[in-house]
Amino acid sequence: MNRKGYLISYEGPEGGGKTSQIMNARKWLEGIGLSSVSFREPGGTPIGEDIRDILLNKDYKKEQIMNRLTEALLFQASRSEFVEKIVIPHLEIGDIVLLDRFKDSSKIYQGLVRGLGMETIDFLNDLSTQGIDPDLTLLLDVDPEIGLERRAGADMELNRIDRESIEFHRKIREGYLRIAKEDVSGRWVIVDATPEKEMVENEIKKIIYPRLVERGFIEGNIRRERG
Ligand code: TYD
Repeated sequence: MNRKGYLISYEGPEGGGKTSQIMNARKWLEGIGLSSVSFREPGGTPIGEDIRDILLNKDYKKEQIMNRLTEALLFQASRSEFVEKIVIPHLEIGDIVLLDRFKDSSKIYQGLVRGLGMETIDFLNDLSTQGIDPDLTLLLDVDPEIGLERRAGADMELNRIDRESIEFHRKIREGYLRIAKEDVSGRWVIVDATPEKEMVENEIKKIIYPRLVERGFIEGNIRRERG
């Protein structure tokens, strides 16, 4: 693949505000003349959206109904469609691609917390993503109690995975913090998602902006004028 674009994944426990932060980032990117696209995982393609409906169907809540391997493979099936039909073409034409969850969600949710093993998921992720890693991964870190409260406050229906126990969600958070801190690739940045949206948005801008300058998406002089 001729990778001309830039891939940013947003990760973290529930309720860290990933979706609204992605919308905000797209607005300011547009304001400086950069074309961006955003997608959510699981989903992004017609088949992916159908798979999403199965994965998040709250009637399949119990592991007895959907075992953990089925769950992991469905996420990977959705990802394989998504990467081939959406992510690669956008990266080839030079877009900035913002993803609401990507391969690291599988590593933490299915590999670590469901217990399938992070190496197993690394292997599956490599297949489904054709080896593509994000250039930057933002971990929107928030205490899951606050995160789930926010979700309830926003009157959002809880899906099958949201409905897991608070211990489950705590393990998710700890797992993310661990892989972000142990990372040697330099792609992970931890963002405290506890403060109000505008503050988090500014924080994220400060992280993304210099990286886009460094990679030549934004000229240095624009950066000085604006920032
Ligand atoms: P969604 O409503 O998109 O949640 P959020 O707003 O928190 O991203 O639901 C996606 C759920 O699927 C979420 O609980 C995380 C989970 N998930 C996995 O378990 N593995 C994965 O690979 C992905 C992409 C998501």
